[in-house]
Amino acid sequence: MRAHEAGALHAEGYGGPPLYLPYPRDINDLLEQLWAESVERGADGALRVAGVDVLSIAEEFGTPAYVMDEGDFRARARSFRDDFAAPFADICGGADVYYAGKAFLCTEVARWVADEGLSLDVSTGGELAVAQRAGFPSERIAVHGNNKSPAEIEQALAYGVGRIIVDSFDEIDRIDAVAARLGVIAPVMIRVTVGVEAHTHEFIATAHEDQKFGLSLATGAAAEAARRVVARSTTMRLLGLHSHIGSQIFDTGGFEISARRLIGLHADIAREHSIDLPHIDLGGGFGIAYTSEHTPLAPAELGEQMADLVAREFKAIGTGDGHGVPRVSIEPGRAIVGPSTFTLYEVGTIKPVTISDRVTRTYVAVDGGMSDNIRPALYEADYSCTLAGRRSDAAPMLSRVVGRHCESGDIVVLDEYLPADLRAGDLIAVPGTGAYCRSLSSQYNHTPRPPVVAVRDGQARLIVRRETIEDLLALDVG
Ligand code: LLP
Repeated sequence: MRAHEAGALHAEGYGGPPLYLPYPRDINDLLEQLWAESVERGADGALRVAGVDVLSIAEEFGTPAYVMDEGDFRARARSFRDDFAAPFADICGGADVYYAGKAFLCTEVARWVADEGLSLDVSTGGELAVAQRAGFPSERIAVHGNNKSPAEIEQALAYGVGRIIVDSFDEIDRIDAVAARLGVIAPVMIRVTVGVEAHTHEFIATAHEDQKFGLSLATGAAAEAARRVVARSTTMRLLGLHSHIGSQIFDTGGFEISARRLIGLHADIAREHSIDLPHIDLGGGFGIAYTSEHTPLAPAELGEQMADLVAREFKAIGTGDGHGVPRVSIEPGRAIVGPSTFTLYEVGTIKPVTISDRVTRTYVAVDGGMSDNIRPALYEADYSCTLAGRRSDAAPMLSRVVGRHCESGDIVVLDEYLPADLRAGDLIAVPGTGAYCRSLSSQYNHTPRPPVVAVRDGQARLIVRRETIEDLLALDVG
């Protein structure tokens, strides 16, 4: 790109399609890895999910709407439970899968997670309240958070959660005080900062030293935390160590280093205190496909690679073959819920913008935007989309799908080919919006948040209703 006196955005070569976006052979094609299992284009050209077409979903529930394939969610949950866990059977008796509720949680989804036999990771009292409302089995709940309040700790201990992941020395004192008052023993794990820099966006990498999570392995803080927990044997029981290196990760290299370091510390603690820690938690972060650029590993492959590296590391420290190896847990959020959902929008204003002699980009404004998906603005996340309500034989046009908010960074899909006959009133669908879209949504510009519609066996139903202007006004005391 050549420099330009008016800035890089004016330079020659700017504005063409990115490498991950080839000129489409057929603009109606769906790239399989982006969509929930049951999504297909029906004979009339409209997308269908679990046998329900998007035109009827839009008519019944309005747009924008998050549309979730329940079967897809359940199948991915089961695949982690069975396919991921299988290779761990001989090493440590299996693996426990905690669905990370921060990716998306509502009462119904908590029930699905419970039904499918998974455990649940919550990171606030609010997420825990949803789990409690769903009657989620308390012993299968892990509680996270880097600043848990005494009230949240009490809520967790009173419900009898299976583990609290300790994030600081202050928190050890807080848990000690609450547990003493309630007369219970808190089951805890220690979140260890293993010093691994995950290859992902800086804001979603969590195990390098200079960030807020965990207790450092390198400085000895994690070992000291273990000492303090072990010393408080009347209020706490140490279950093991935990690490989470980041999100949207595609290879197991980072996990290998973090597991090696975590297992080293695990062994040191076992020696120092003559205890067997029964668990080890390697966190979540498994990537999904948002565009053709991404090729995620299937749970079975992930399980094989991770079981292999866990077995290797334990062998290296002189344990293994089913003896003395703690049970492994993982915490996938995005990889279970992300691909299950697409966001359905209605097209409004269409505006061609000439950006160079050779490139015209068509700005397609939809009826949602950064309030229902902040990820492009927050992490420069790329998405894809397709014309959803019909098929088209028109030529592909390079498009940018934008929202309705008062910010130029209000981008839904940075680059995509949409058909040149696109018009106001058309529906478009953005896949892969199940994780961290509804859960990070806002009411920016006083925009009511979209509903979540679950579809299964030809039936669509609300699992989270649409917010209304009345909901918004009800908070405003006037
Ligand atoms: N376990 C812990 C301790 C975590 O902090 C997280 C995510 C997970 C598990 C689940 O990670 P997953 O498998 O979903 O990648 N809002 C960002 C992601 C933030 C992730 C926060 N922690 C995004 O939209 O990309």
